[in-house]
Amino acid sequence: MKGKVIAVANMKGGVGKTATVIGLAEALAADGSKVLVIDLDPQANASICLAGDRQLAALIENGRTIDGFLEDSFFSKKRKADFDRCIHAQISSVWHAGHPLAISLLASSPHLRLIERQLIFKLTKAKLDLDEIVERMHSVIREQLKRSRGEHEYVLIDCAPGISTLNEVSIRLADMVIVPTIPDFLSSYGLQAFCRSLWNGAIADKSTLKKPPKPYVLVTRRRPIRIHDEISNLLRQEQGRDSSAFRVFSTEIPERAAIADALGMINDTPTFTKKWGSEISSVLADLTHETKEALHGDRS
Ligand SMILES: Nc1ncnc2c1ncn2[C@@H]1O[C@H](COP(=O)(O)OP(=O)(O)O)[C@@H](O)[C@H]1O
Ligand SMILES: [Mg+2]
Repeated sequence: MKGKVIAVANMKGGVGKTATVIGLAEALAADGSKVLVIDLDPQANASICLAGDRQLAALIENGRTIDGFLEDSFFSKKRKADFDRCIHAQISSVWHAGHPLAISLLASSPHLRLIERQLIFKLTKAKLDLDEIVERMHSVIREQLKRSRGEHEYVLIDCAPGISTLNEVSIRLADMVIVPTIPDFLSSYGLQAFCRSLWNGAIADKSTLKKPPKPYVLVTRRRPIRIHDEISNLLRQEQGRDSSAFRVFSTEIPERAAIADALGMINDTPTFTKKWGSEISSVLADLTHETKEALHGDRS
């Protein structure tokens, strides 16, 4: 089976991108799938959640990170650039049904911010314009992903906030784009701007790469307050329009201490259900089901 690539992105920070990546990766793995998580955020939050502090320090020390890979690809003559060298297989310390979850990690580090800037500078000096830079990086990462897609059923990409070159590349490589959104006024305002710029903006129109799939908004950090009810309803009404730039998951992720606590268990070895608690485990199972439906069930 050819693995599906899911990019989790939003221009805003703090909306639950990393929480979604970790929760969905673990729920997909608990459901029996092999999952690769690629961390493209220099804040390395997904990396620390999955690897723990000591293992992440070792990966960074040995250059086994996405920035290490980009450095090998574009700047080093000594080492052959290879995702597999940088991927840490079986990183998860979370157990389910008598086995550790089958999750691998391509970690990130704070150095990624610098490497991305150096890379753009180098390619700009070589007279590539922004579209060509995206295309060059897209082709390098797509080539590596071919093998990863063969070995994993799902590849989840945790994007950095903003609209960076790497985010553009991820969105164009993805079979599905998930946009976690807090249903409040400012977050949904940012959401419109984000969808417009990526799906209908200048780069999307000019580029020779395929147009990204219509994204799925995931309502996150949902609280029982009036504004959340209103915006959640508005988002659902919007998806019904032909002109809508997005679809919306039926599943919503509630604001719960259990989620913040689960993300903090970086050196623990709990079971999946213990880690997330019964309510969130069940929400994550719903999200997994909907994600699979969207990727495999929808033949329209
Ligand atoms: N559903 C939730 N309920 C409670 N806390 C959450 C929830 N989702 C995320 N958080 C917390 O909010 C903060 C931001 O979430 P995070 O996933 O890191 O966002 P992003 O990756 O978009 O910046 C983190 O401290 C996380 O623990
Ligand atoms: Mg994050």
